[in-house]
Amino acid sequence: MTLKALLLAASATAALMFAQPASAAQLTIGFSQIGSESGWRAAETSVSKQEAAKRQVNLKIADAQQKQENQIKAIRSFIAQGVDAIFLAPVVASGWDAVLKEAKIPVVLLDRDIDPSGKDLYLTAVTSDSVHEGEVAGEWLAKTVGEKACNVVELQGTVGASVATNRKKGFDTVVAKHPNLKVVRSQTGDFTRAKGKEVMESFIKAENGGKSICAVYAHNDDMMVGAIQAMKEAGLKPGKDILTISIDAVPDIFKAMAAGEANATVELTPNMAGPALDAIVAYKDKGTTPPKWIQTESKLYTAADDPQKVYDSKKGLGY
Ligand code: AHR
Repeated sequence: MTLKALLLAASATAALMFAQPASAAQLTIGFSQIGSESGWRAAETSVSKQEAAKRQVNLKIADAQQKQENQIKAIRSFIAQGVDAIFLAPVVASGWDAVLKEAKIPVVLLDRDIDPSGKDLYLTAVTSDSVHEGEVAGEWLAKTVGEKACNVVELQGTVGASVATNRKKGFDTVVAKHPNLKVVRSQTGDFTRAKGKEVMESFIKAENGGKSICAVYAHNDDMMVGAIQAMKEAGLKPGKDILTISIDAVPDIFKAMAAGEANATVELTPNMAGPALDAIVAYKDKGTTPPKWIQTESKLYTAADDPQKVYDSKKGLGY
């Protein structure tokens, strides 16, 4: 070997020895996403891509088409590929312990929780307080109707999803304090527009053409947009004959609000990935352990908040 070759080899070895610890630019993260059941979910996916690109993280997204079995397969495939971390938006709360035990790399939950038995199996969860979201919705309704007797119909999210269980729980807590409020019907609409519409049609039929319904509470805006359509087709005036309160704050609900067809929504940010990526990068680079729960805000919007302006400002932000 010539002297020049020897010097080159030595400097290459030195470069390797002093290589920086893992940085964002080197990270590959597998994201097991639920699917695209709602406008909010589609926005979360696109915001996640933007946030990863900002930090030069290689984000691999697997769409589970709303099926837990597909999420479990995706997690196993990410583990086999040797990714640095896994993001998981769990479609339902139970049934994760076995696969998360296999992971042995940091797992971050996005937007939904898992059962308490899995608490030690993930690094942190970036979610809203979904019980509080239900309480905010219930309190808005209680304040809006005052002492008047009010029969409420409820469109629940996916059965077994933490956010569906919690949004129901929070709302029910407020209803229990107001004897004039009564949930007369409650059924899942699986967080989709089509099912929200279908279930609302059946509620309207069962409730005297909708005449005995005072308000609809939907666990997300997409189901409410479907329910608004059902009310209109039944000759009812949503937002006037029947009050609406839902969750997410997607642009379409502001469009409905601006048209006087929806009354209120509780905001859920689609940017769960930004805080999750910051937590993982700090954990990998500096060994900083994040808090177990990174909580996002839950802000109430009503027709008094200039819905057209909110619609314009939200459009394009991943929606
Ligand atoms: O987990 C968050 C919920 O999932 C959103 O409120 C809903 O739109 C989505 O499908």
